Amino acid sequence: MLMIGKNAETDEEVYINSDRARAMLISGKRGSGKSYTLGVLAEELLDGDQGIVIIIDPMGIFHTMILPNTDQEQALWDWGMRPKGLPIRLLVAGDAERLYGGRDITQAMESRGLEIAPIRLNPSDLTPDGWCDLFSLSLSDPMGMVLYRAIQELTRINWDLEKSFFNIAQIVTQINQDKRASDKTVEALLLRLETAMDWGIFTEEHQPILESFKQNTINVVDLSVIEAGRYGLRNLVLDVICRNLFLKRTIERRREELNLSTGFPRIWLAIDEAHQFAPSSGTTLAKENLIRWVKEGRQPGLSLIVASQQPAAIDSEILSQCDVIIAHKITALEDMQALNKLNQDYMKRELQSMIKQIKERGIAILVDDETESVTTINIRPRRSHHGGSESSSPHSEQFRI
Ligand SMILES: Nc1ncnc2c1ncn2[C@@H]1O[C@H](COP(=O)(O)OP(=O)(O)OP(=O)(O)O)[C@@H](O)[C@H]1O
Ligand SMILES: [Mg+2]
Repeated sequence: MLMIGKNAETDEEVYINSDRARAMLISGKRGSGKSYTLGVLAEELLDGDQGIVIIIDPMGIFHTMILPNTDQEQALWDWGMRPKGLPIRLLVAGDAERLYGGRDITQAMESRGLEIAPIRLNPSDLTPDGWCDLFSLSLSDPMGMVLYRAIQELTRINWDLEKSFFNIAQIVTQINQDKRASDKTVEALLLRLETAMDWGIFTEEHQPILESFKQNTINVVDLSVIEAGRYGLRNLVLDVICRNLFLKRTIERRREELNLSTGFPRIWLAIDEAHQFAPSSGTTLAKENLIRWVKEGRQPGLSLIVASQQPAAIDSEILSQCDVIIAHKITALEDMQALNKLNQDYMKRELQSMIKQIKERGIAILVDDETESVTTINIRPRRSHHGGSESSSPHSEQFRI
């Protein structure tokens, strides 16, 4: 059970059942408290030992959860709680020192208790289609065809190996051996692959991404250090994470059903600014697997929490799967309509008028399909420091990187 806050009318504690996999939407206009609430859920998940907790963090704000929320000490006391920093594992795709701007910076972060760990992708983690998408190549394009053939062939060659793995150098060799490819096509492709090597997110050795995620800590994947537009790299990282975790949990679930030992518990994947990864229009590298996660993930124990200021900008297949909605203040008509479309019978008309009545930050409407309830709640204060504010608290100063 996740204690999200208190009923604004009765002052009773309000819980969200987390015994089974859930899909949650946190919405609200800019600055209404979405990321803060996402942090509350992460705290509850960690406290309740609910499996592996992962936050996909495009803004680079969640690592501050390592610090106690001393700014709201009084509010916490009023709730019978105390400020408390949490164990945070900060996962960075690429070379952390280079991405954060120097060794002294990563050292300073580590001295505050943050565990910084690199995540590296194996070139074999991407499908032939994924590789083409990465460079925006289509299969009607000679370059797309040659690249597709090369990856397909490497995947086939490696099929028998227990851990099918290949590196970029092998892709280059494979392309060079393609007799059907023109020199110009090969040259152009090799240039692109060289660029991919420079990104620093692909490893030349086999490094299973699953080993990056640990229990009893909040795994924060900091995507803010990757340029948003650059070849859809943020989406690529999320896609590879989703695909591998999905596969692993499907196998683990089978083991659980057969009473075999398992070492990989259920997963809570929380995505801030989720419209960047599963937009309502257009495709991204991650979108297909996110839809699969939310549609087929319940049985293998995969939960999803998406936060966005524009529910209308999130893919409708994902929205329609959400069985918990936490709605902060919303003013845009379009976003109100997107929420209304999700209206279940039990909340007809209610939601819109309740959202209109929200006057302050920290108040939200909780719609829970399981209990078929619509409740106005006061979100509980965070125990750990929220990094999304522009406050001049000494802690946020300390953490400015
Ligand atoms: N429940 C709360 N109690 C106290 N302060 C809160 C609460 N929720 C949010 N805040 C404060 O409000 C500010 C904005 O919150 P937050 O960063 O969560 O907004 P957001 O909806 O994620 O905004 P954006 O759309 O810009 O990402 C922060 O300074 C945060 O500390
Ligand atoms: Mg936010």
